[in-house]
Amino acid sequence: MKLRPRFKAHELQVLGPQPRPFWARWRQAFVGKAFGQLGLPSGDANLVARCLVEADLRGQAGHGIQRLPMYAGRIRAGVVKPRSSCSVHGDDGMGFVVATRAMDEAIQIARDQGVGLAGVRRSTHFGCSSHYVMQALEADMLSFVFTNSSPALPPFGGARALLGASPFAAGVPGTQPVVLDMSTTVIARGKLRLMSQRGEEIPEGVGLDKEGRPTRDGMEAFHGVTLPFGGAKGAAISLLMDLLSGLFTGAAFGGRVRSLYNDTDGAQDVGHFLLCMRPDLFLPSTEAFKERMDEMAAILKSQPCAEGVEEVLLPGEPETRSERQLRVEGVPLQEDVVASLREEGSKLGLEFPAPL
Ligand SMILES: NC(=O)c1ccc[n+]([C@@H]2O[C@H](COP(=O)([O-])OP(=O)(O)OC[C@H]3O[C@@H](n4cnc5c(N)ncnc54)[C@H](O)[C@@H]3O)[C@@H](O)[C@H]2O)c1
Repeated sequence: MKLRPRFKAHELQVLGPQPRPFWARWRQAFVGKAFGQLGLPSGDANLVARCLVEADLRGQAGHGIQRLPMYAGRIRAGVVKPRSSCSVHGDDGMGFVVATRAMDEAIQIARDQGVGLAGVRRSTHFGCSSHYVMQALEADMLSFVFTNSSPALPPFGGARALLGASPFAAGVPGTQPVVLDMSTTVIARGKLRLMSQRGEEIPEGVGLDKEGRPTRDGMEAFHGVTLPFGGAKGAAISLLMDLLSGLFTGAAFGGRVRSLYNDTDGAQDVGHFLLCMRPDLFLPSTEAFKERMDEMAAILKSQPCAEGVEEVLLPGEPETRSERQLRVEGVPLQEDVVASLREEGSKLGLEFPAPL
């Protein structure tokens, strides 16, 4: 099955020029060097670059390299430290680096004790939760990965953004693993911003402007209120993300995580909650677990499809297919995103690679 780059409102009209494809490995080299110039140790710079390019490849461009100028601005403003001494206290380091190290610790504890939990405070935005779910999968671990984030949606019945779009993420190993990674908003906030940059309208029922009025303008919703999926249920999951990742760990909570985009007055103090479980906790071996997962995948795949659906997919499968395709074809980048990356490159003495 050939996949288009995944974007929920792909039916909507694209007004700007068509995006041009760029090789993933060139972008990764550019982004890695850029974070190196910004002061990150080379291993950390490459780790952040890999996460951002991986998000693009997996069809999650809202959390991809288009965010480089924003992260660079926060490092320059001194609210993100390029070097941090992270374990559980993130020391305001890049969230990607802090969460990867914390997940390493959770994996080590789970190897010894069956279950490993890492709670992180004083971290910053860590991008897509799936990075850390897949890190746990590489170690053959089940995981829950939670984070809190800056205010995006109201508690159920509220009129003002207070809780984060904080994704709920989990992973289950298998020949075909499950990678669930879903923001608690109807559409991830990064995607609203991207749609606005592409000149697209957002669908109805997705966001409210600062005055609480329904809007089809992605930037208005981005700065106003993004609505939770599933009404009270989505708002409750977002609250749970704040309770476990923020309140429980000692990080900021209750609407006090600072915004990524328009607040460089202080560090974000994001919290993460990373739970790992060994698959053989209740079974004789990891292999026995995986055999059961293979059986489960086969049951799911053999289900009859609803009208208009070609195939039942496991959570994470659309992203894996997107990655496979875009590694070959290159990842599309809008002209305005290329322009902002060129500008950031010139500040850092780097040339952004040419399109294919
Ligand atoms: N760090 C933060 O603060 C933050 C905040 C919000 C969002 N995000 C990130 O934004 C990204 C996008 O989130 P999203 O909610 O837009 O994701 P999404 O809606 O694209 O996908 C949500 C989940 O549904 C699954 N899915 C989608 N289509 C499917 C299908 N046809 N069959 C089976 N499963 C399917 C996906 O595999 C995924 O697990 C995530 O990676 C998330 O971590 C991060």
